[in-house]
Amino acid sequence: MKIDRFAVSLFATCGILLSSGCGGPAADKPAGDKPTDTPAPTTAGTTANAGAKGLKLGFAQVGAESGWRTANTESIKSECEKQGVDLKFSDAQQKQENQIKAIRSFIAQGVDVIAFSPVVETGWAPVLQEAKRAHIPVIVSDRRADVPDDLYATFIGSDFIKEGEMAGEWLVKKTGGTANIAELTGTPGSAPANDRAKGFRTAIGKAAGLKIVFSQTGEFTRTKGKEVMEALLKSPVGNTVNVVFAHNDDMALGAIQAIEATGKKPGKDIVVLSIDGIKDGFKAMVDGKLNCSVECNPLLGPNIIDAAVQLKAGKTLPKRTVVQDGIFDQSVAAKELPNRKY
Ligand code: AHR
Repeated sequence: MKIDRFAVSLFATCGILLSSGCGGPAADKPAGDKPTDTPAPTTAGTTANAGAKGLKLGFAQVGAESGWRTANTESIKSECEKQGVDLKFSDAQQKQENQIKAIRSFIAQGVDVIAFSPVVETGWAPVLQEAKRAHIPVIVSDRRADVPDDLYATFIGSDFIKEGEMAGEWLVKKTGGTANIAELTGTPGSAPANDRAKGFRTAIGKAAGLKIVFSQTGEFTRTKGKEVMEALLKSPVGNTVNVVFAHNDDMALGAIQAIEATGKKPGKDIVVLSIDGIKDGFKAMVDGKLNCSVECNPLLGPNIIDAAVQLKAGKTLPKRTVVQDGIFDQSVAAKELPNRKY
């Protein structure tokens, strides 16, 4: 099967495109809920930014739940180190209350800019109002927060709805439009879980024979993905499943282990597709166990630093910058694996 690598963002930055190891041609339409109509505010990853040295940046990270998250954290930390940014980093261990505490502590410390990747979509308005009252600009990174536009300066991240659609469109072609699907969803209430589920349903809705017969959270972790899949395969509905759609590669990799433990062949007896495009996902594609992975680029560090520098200088940024992603399957995995940066 041939697969086209395609870009999903009209205004993806050069830096993100280069650092992803992707480089597919741009699609002819913009993606994202509110795509910016100005170029992304960055020369990310190219030169050090004059205003970065000594800039105080507070970053409230979701946690360390996945390979994607580890790469995202590494991108932010290494770029801060490279550019001399004074980074205050907090790992919320997937708990919203920890992120809120971290943001309050950044406000108390008087940082120049706050960035955070919201673990869930809702519940952010009060703490972001506090940041606004303290005149500290906020960058929303990776995941959307459901708040009024005036409570944040800019949102940089992938279009998760589009990612779900890309996965669904691939599956329609792969199966010819008939299959029983088990869905492993991400963290409940998070933007990627909500949006990938939505985009996937829109795409498979065009094929009446594609049915989601099971849907449960694996919380974006390999361990939980395995556990959920093990339980499913022991149930009557498990015998009917011939596709697993996981909202990230880690859950798919856990599911693959569970499938193998039953003597079935993942990638053949059960089609497995997921999102992220991490190296471990590519290795599983090369081994024939994962069929397809939609990319979600985590290398946001350079863009976040660029945005922070501009915000400190009093500039206004586009409200939305959509990161460019691709899609890869087994037919291209071996060739692409050496190019992967995460
Ligand atoms: O928000 C991005 C998602 O969060 C990634 O797809 C997933 O792996 C991570 O946990």
